[in-house]
Amino acid sequence: MPHHIKLLIIFASSLLLLGNTAFAENNRSRLLEKARYNAIAKVPGKLISSTQKQKLLGKALFFDENLSEPAGQSCASCHHPDFAFTDPKQNIPVSAGVHPDRFVSRNSPTVMYARFTPPLHFDEDEGLWLGGVFLDGRAATLEEQAKLPFLGAVEMANPDAATVVNKVRNAAYAPLFKALYGQDIFDTSDAAFDNIAKAIAAFERTRQFSPFSSKYDAYLAGRATLSQQEQLGLEIFEAENKGNCAACHPSQPGENGQPPLFTDFSYDNLGIAKNSDNPFLSQDSAFNPDGEDFVDIGLGATVQDAAENGKFRVPTLRNVALTAPYTHNGLFTTLKEVVEFYNTRDSDTRWGQPEVPKTMNHDELGDLQLSEVEIDALVAFLETLTDGYARKIMR
Ligand code: HEC
Ligand code: HEC
Repeated sequence: MPHHIKLLIIFASSLLLLGNTAFAENNRSRLLEKARYNAIAKVPGKLISSTQKQKLLGKALFFDENLSEPAGQSCASCHHPDFAFTDPKQNIPVSAGVHPDRFVSRNSPTVMYARFTPPLHFDEDEGLWLGGVFLDGRAATLEEQAKLPFLGAVEMANPDAATVVNKVRNAAYAPLFKALYGQDIFDTSDAAFDNIAKAIAAFERTRQFSPFSSKYDAYLAGRATLSQQEQLGLEIFEAENKGNCAACHPSQPGENGQPPLFTDFSYDNLGIAKNSDNPFLSQDSAFNPDGEDFVDIGLGATVQDAAENGKFRVPTLRNVALTAPYTHNGLFTTLKEVVEFYNTRDSDTRWGQPEVPKTMNHDELGDLQLSEVEIDALVAFLETLTDGYARKIMR
C-alpha cells in the first residue's frame, strides 16, 4: 500500500475514534487515545494542515473535564453542543462552577456565532458602544475570553495558568500540542497558556459553531417555505409598528449577502427585574460580597460610565429555542414568556421593578399591543432559527 494511502487511513480512523474515546477513563484507552493523537501529530502538513490540527486540539481542550480544579468541569459543561453550546442545566438561571455551591452571576450564552462579534468599540457615527465578547463586552477576542474561565473561582477554579498548563502537559493530546507549538512549549507557562486559548478559539471558529443551517436560512435561500404561522411571525418580527424586533436583532442578509446574525452588537437595558431565584445572590460572600444587594450593571462596569449601567449586548437569536433560560440573569424560562415581557412590560405588574430603572429603553418595547395569535406566531418564527434543518449548508 502506498505510504500516503496508509497515512490517510490512519488519519481517517483516528478522526472516527477520537470522538468516542475523548473521555476515556481507563488507562488502556487512554494509551490508545494518546497513540492516536501522536499519529495525527505526525501526519504531514500536506494531508492535515496545522490549522486543522489546531482545531482538533481546540476541540480536545474544550471538552476536557480534567482542566478544572478539582477535575470535573470543562468548557462544554456550561457550553454543551446539544444546547447550542449553552448550559444543559436549564432548571437554574445561571451556571454552577466545578465547586457546585459556587455560581457565576450570569446565564451561560451560546458560543455559536460568537466568532462574528467584533471587539468592543465606540461607534462615533451612531454614538454607541458595539461589540465585545461576554455579555458586558469586557473581553476583546475569543482568545482573550478563553483564558478566563480556567482561572475563575466560580468556574473552573484553577489557581493559576501554570496549573492548567501542567494538566495539558499530561493530557493524551499533549503530543499534538507539542507538534504545533514546539517540543519545549510546556516549559513556558505563559506561552503555553496563550496557545491553549488560541486553539480553543480556532475550534470556536469552525463551521460547527456557525453552520447557518436553520429553516430560516433555507427559506432565505429559496429552498424552504415558512408555514403561515412562521411567516406571520417573521412579519411581526420585522414590522416597526408591531414587534420591531429586527431593530436590534437584524433578520435580513447584509449588503454583501452575508446571512443575518440576529444581533447588531449594540447594548440595551430592557428593564428586566432582579432574579430573586439567582443562586449567585445567596452564595458565600467570598464570591458575592454584595449579597442580595448585588446589582449587575453590565456594560457600565466595563466602560466605567453610569449612563451604560444595566445594558447588555444584544444576543444572537440563532438557536434560541435550544438555549433556555433567557436573558443575562436567566429570569425567563420560555420564549413565550420573553415575548410576553416585550409585549406588556409597561402594563403588567407581574414583571416586577426594573433592576436598573435609569437607563431603561422606553422607545422600542414594553407595550407592543400584540394579540395572543401574534405572540404565538413570533415564537414559531424564533423556532425556525434552530440549526440542523438543512443537511446541506446554505452559504
Ligand atoms: C461555570 C460555567 C462556565 C464554564 C465552565 C465556562 N463558561 Fe463560558 N460562559 C459562562 C457564562 C455564565 C458566560 C457569560 C459571562 C458574562 O457575560 O460575564 C460565558 C461566556 C462565554 C463566552 C462569551 C459568549 C458571548 O456571547 O460573548 C464564550 C466565548 C465562552 N464563555 C467560552 C468558554 C470557554 C472556551 C470555556 C472553557 C475554557 C468556558 N466558556 C467555560 C459560563 C461558563
Ligand atoms: C432595543 C433593542 C431590542 C429590541 C427592539 C428587541 N430586543 Fe430582544 N434583546 C435585546 C437585548 C439587549 C437582550 C439581552 C437582554 C439581557 O440579557 O438583559 C435581548 C434578549 C432577547 C431574547 C433572549 C435571548 C437569550 O439568549 O437569552 C429574546 C428571545 C429576544 N430578545 C427576542 C426579541 C423579540 C422577539 C423582540 C421583538 C418583540 C425583541 N427581542 C426586541 C435587545 C432588543
